Amino acid sequence: MSTVCMIAAAAENNALGKDNDLLWHLPDDFKRFKKLTTGYSIIMGRKTYESFPKPLPNRRHIIITRDTKYKVDHEHCIVVHSLLEALELCKNEVLSYIIGGGEIYAQAEQFSNKIELTRVHSTFENADTFFPSIDFNKWELVYEEYHPIDERHKYAFTYLTYIRKKV
Ligand SMILES: NC(=O)c1ccc[n+]([C@@H]2O[C@H](COP(=O)([O-])OP(=O)(O)OC[C@H]3O[C@@H](n4cnc5c(N)ncnc54)[C@H](OP(=O)(O)O)[C@@H]3O)[C@@H](O)[C@H]2O)c1
Repeated sequence: MSTVCMIAAAAENNALGKDNDLLWHLPDDFKRFKKLTTGYSIIMGRKTYESFPKPLPNRRHIIITRDTKYKVDHEHCIVVHSLLEALELCKNEVLSYIIGGGEIYAQAEQFSNKIELTRVHSTFENADTFFPSIDFNKWELVYEEYHPIDERHKYAFTYLTYIRKKV
């Protein structure tokens, strides 16, 4: 069975971003995101794609938009027009990642069987994008690692890995 994993960093109030950017700079979380996703397909909404200065190396980008004229001229980027179309492209892959943003996570939980969530231990009232509220009764926590505040990280955070419980 192929694994579809949502990967996100969300604050205590589920804040994800503001003005099409992140709310924090957490280099160790970036490093982990890079390590986990490199070599795999990453599925994202058009706004998340446009929040990157350039495509991320060594990952196939599958960009979802309703705009049928939207084009991205890059060898590692594919544009599709629905989440199902994106998932169809990954159906024979062992593992693929859904990397956001808020609109896409909200639609993707039902199709996912793994979540890599970095819980950022702060609350951002000014956010404009949020991670959906997940019913964690349906998910089993299989890994947890706390990262304290240090000179490179203004906020403490915890890596949480969930897999969908068998029904
Ligand atoms: N903290 C994190 O882990 C994390 C991760 C990713 C992103 N973010 C943040 O999240 C924000 C962006 O998230 P967002 O919710 O605003 O946007 P998004 O989910 O990245 O993209 C939304 C866009 O996706 C397309 N779309 C959504 N559903 C669709 C569907 N069913 N069919 C076809 N196209 C569909 C639409 O594109 P068109 O308008 O082109 O039709 C829509 O405007 C930014 O602030 C970013 O920094 C945070």
